[in-house]
Amino acid sequence: MLTVAVLISGTGSNLRALLDAADDPAYPARIVVVGADRDADGLEHAEAFGIPSFTVPYAAYPSREAWGAELDAQLRVWNPDLIVLSGLMRLLPPAVVHAWAPRIVNTHPAYLPDFPGAHAVRDALAAGAQQTGASVIVVDDGVDSGPILAQERVPVLPGDDEHTLHERIKPVERRLLIDVVRRVATGELDLAAASAPAGTTPDVPVRPAASTTHP
Ligand code: GRF
Repeated sequence: MLTVAVLISGTGSNLRALLDAADDPAYPARIVVVGADRDADGLEHAEAFGIPSFTVPYAAYPSREAWGAELDAQLRVWNPDLIVLSGLMRLLPPAVVHAWAPRIVNTHPAYLPDFPGAHAVRDALAAGAQQTGASVIVVDDGVDSGPILAQERVPVLPGDDEHTLHERIKPVERRLLIDVVRRVATGELDLAAASAPAGTTPDVPVRPAASTTHP
């Protein structure tokens, strides 16, 4: 059974979908903890499912690195096989990325590499794009620049605003995310192989079905 930590900043609708999926005994992953960088509304979903949560308030730390060190310490308590960034609106410091790579994935509301960054939906509208999309990627040191694990196009419709377009994208994100986590859990998707530069063999296997003891 793959153990998963989910990090959020917002309403956590993607988290909720993952919790619903993982509630099915046939789903091969379990969410063991939910973390947030603020008092996020989405933490209520963890509570509803009886899943532990923690908050590491970004504003309470003197630097991104200091915040990241505490986030890392909290994650190590649970030692998840996989970390899912599901609307975490912060860049992880490199030390955290390197500590967990390639076991951090991120869901993004655009068809990467188009429209990376925090305002992907707004940027797609501003660019007059006729389609955008959703992507799930492995997190690397860049901004939404890691290897793409899954993605799908979503049309931009006449009259769309940021809200309507984002609400059309989110169900696609959810479906892709649930499927990526499932494929990592079954070993169908090897994050180390997906992250390895072309022509090399990864030497850090991702544990597809590790058993982990949690506090
Ligand atoms: C998602 O579109 C995610 O990709 C992003 O913010 C949104 C999070 O929504 N960057 P929610 O908190 O899961 O409702």
